[in-house]
Amino acid sequence: MGVIISIGSIRDPEQKEVGARLLKAGEEAALEEVLGRLKDKQEVKMTGEYESRENLSKETLDLEMARQSLIEELEAINWYQERIEVTKNDDLRKILEHNRDEEKEHVAMLIEWIRKNDPTQDRMFEGHD
Ligand SMILES: [Fe+2]
Repeated sequence: MGVIISIGSIRDPEQKEVGARLLKAGEEAALEEVLGRLKDKQEVKMTGEYESRENLSKETLDLEMARQSLIEELEAINWYQERIEVTKNDDLRKILEHNRDEEKEHVAMLIEWIRKNDPTQDRMFEGHD
């Protein structure tokens, strides 16, 4: 369930406890509100963020940003593709198709950057099991 993952991403231990208490009590609406407020104040870690920022190297932080951006670009392609399939409006479909393909360009740009900055990942494109 998404809510459980979100509680794990709360930075402040006291707020995390509040979230866990609300979840246990089945107070989902109150929990969503707390999580939304914390997210607005950037007190919730982004996907894949587990360790304190200050302990991480610039290289790791840059790679993490690139990988997170890649996730978001791929998600955007899926969202555009679904809307392309359901819209009944031909003009809108053309715009959505254009936008979906731009996201594919962004994916390619990010993969290129990751390959340049993560030698192990780069090698995997040359050959793998
Ligand atoms: Fe994009």
